[in-house]
Amino acid sequence: MKLLITGSNGLLGQKLVKLCIRYGYDFIACSRGENRNPDCPSDRYVELDIANKLAVNHLFQSWYPSHVIHTAAITNVDYCELHPEECRRINVEGSKNLFDASMRYQAHFQLLSTDFVFDGEDGPYDEDAPVNPLSTYARSKAESEQLLINSDYSNWSIVRTIIVIGTASGLSRSNMVLWVKKSLEQGEHIRVVNDQFRMPTWADDLAWGCLQICSLSERGIFHLSGKDFVSMLEFAYQIADYYQLDRSLISPVRSEELKQAAKRPPKTGFILDKAITRLGYRPKSIAEFLELMPE
Ligand SMILES: NC(=O)c1ccc[n+]([C@@H]2O[C@H](COP(=O)([O-])OP(=O)(O)OC[C@H]3O[C@@H](n4cnc5c(N)ncnc54)[C@H](OP(=O)(O)O)[C@@H]3O)[C@@H](O)[C@H]2O)c1
Repeated sequence: MKLLITGSNGLLGQKLVKLCIRYGYDFIACSRGENRNPDCPSDRYVELDIANKLAVNHLFQSWYPSHVIHTAAITNVDYCELHPEECRRINVEGSKNLFDASMRYQAHFQLLSTDFVFDGEDGPYDEDAPVNPLSTYARSKAESEQLLINSDYSNWSIVRTIIVIGTASGLSRSNMVLWVKKSLEQGEHIRVVNDQFRMPTWADDLAWGCLQICSLSERGIFHLSGKDFVSMLEFAYQIADYYQLDRSLISPVRSEELKQAAKRPPKTGFILDKAITRLGYRPKSIAEFLELMPE
């Protein structure tokens, strides 16, 4: 396999690079701006704006990947709601640039997508459930999925995931565990929704699943998340308890009280049977992955 990993400065991208090095896979990593991933050797890194079609084509011409794992995206849901054109340009047009090039070079194209493609009215969902995105970000992912699903080219996979947790260097945004821990350590009161239910995912498990799809030459849609189904409030309490921090600083709040720009689905969660059977996917519980977080 000759892997091209987009978004290598991001959380999942950094985990993928680490695993590629561990498994001895041939890879090239790319992201926006400088290489901020200390695990990624400079001769394996190419700066790439995925919205720049010429640059994407040039990279394929010079590197001929056999597999593309496309993690790069604008992932801040509220930012996307406030900047819909930029969201579309990067999340949809960027994905199209990479998918078009993958088709031309007969490479496997893997798109990272989200539980937010569902409306959250009747989760947990399997891979065949109908999508109904509620926000600009979610629509950008659902539209990108449709590029693949409606194409004549079948050498692709879609990996949908939920609330990805882990640590990596120089990330442009935080995640739930880091945010709750830091806030409570500083004695800050935080408000956490009690009416959104998710299955938080350990980033290393997700990276393993993405690579497993490629190495087994699997195709189609896969749901890869953690295995515990919790409200975001329960998740925050579990984080507080694990780090022995004051859980009374956490106040339950309903989604509508937060007045966030983007609407979130109330209850997502995935049925993981397909990934368990076809990939041998064994995701960690929240308790297990908290043990693995660095102090
Ligand atoms: N994290 C989650 O909870 C979650 C949940 C569901 C689905 N997903 C999906 O899973 C994938 C990976 O998530 P993640 O947590 O690793 O995201 P992340 O940490 O935000 O990483 C995304 C990376 O994409 C890069 N990027 C943004 N625009 C780009 C462009 N125009 N050209 C090249 N690179 C660009 C970002 O660069 P900068 O670092 O410079 O901003 C960032 O490093 C994403 O597609 C996301 O939508 C994530």
